[in-house]
Amino acid sequence: MEDKQNNIYPIFDRMMTREDKERLLKQRSVMVWFTGLSGSGKSTVAIALERELHKCGLLCRILDGDNIRSGINNNLGFSAEDRVENIRRIAEVSKLFIDTGVITIAAFISPNNDLREMAASIVGKENFLEIYVSTPIEECERRDVKGLYAKARRGEIKDFTGVSAPFEAPEHPDLTLDTSVLSLEESVTRLLELILPKVSLGGKQ
Ligand code: ADX
Repeated sequence: MEDKQNNIYPIFDRMMTREDKERLLKQRSVMVWFTGLSGSGKSTVAIALERELHKCGLLCRILDGDNIRSGINNNLGFSAEDRVENIRRIAEVSKLFIDTGVITIAAFISPNNDLREMAASIVGKENFLEIYVSTPIEECERRDVKGLYAKARRGEIKDFTGVSAPFEAPEHPDLTLDTSVLSLEESVTRLLELILPKVSLGGKQ
């Protein structure tokens, strides 16, 4: 069988580089990867973070579970196999943004270490910040913003993370945020302390 990678010749050498684009944007790009249960607060914190970085004159792109799953990944479900493909595509898309100099913020459950390691190796480990939104499941379930925990408990959704599918906590996250304890402002402050020094190109912050 013919290898799909045969007869493919990527051109990168004549294109403008990431460094060219970072200079243009006066920022360094980084991948901010949120992981945590559904309802843990990943998207809320990601959106608040983007607003603050934007105020600092920094260009960001958020990639978020429900948005990506209604577009580029609308053919994927929640089997272990589909979750791998979900994260693989997200990481590849993130890499395009990173290479464009854009601070890329991903908010996906990404429920196990292997998945997150795959994402980090696609994006480049040196670009990857892992943020664990560690809000306990009891709190996520109490919030149940989308009513999905109730459905999962009634057996109406199978393979629901935290209920009928596993969630593996990260071993060495760059930052852990429990949104049942921290206010949104506190979470964003901690994120900014971590991120601003990494994206600063001197001068603009
Ligand atoms: S991931 O596990 O593949 O990383 P992703 O973050 O893209 O998940 O999507 C999670 C979102 O899909 C949840 O916030 C929830 O709204 C919805 N969802 C629907 N079915 C499931 C399920 N079986 N498990 C987890 N989330 C689900």
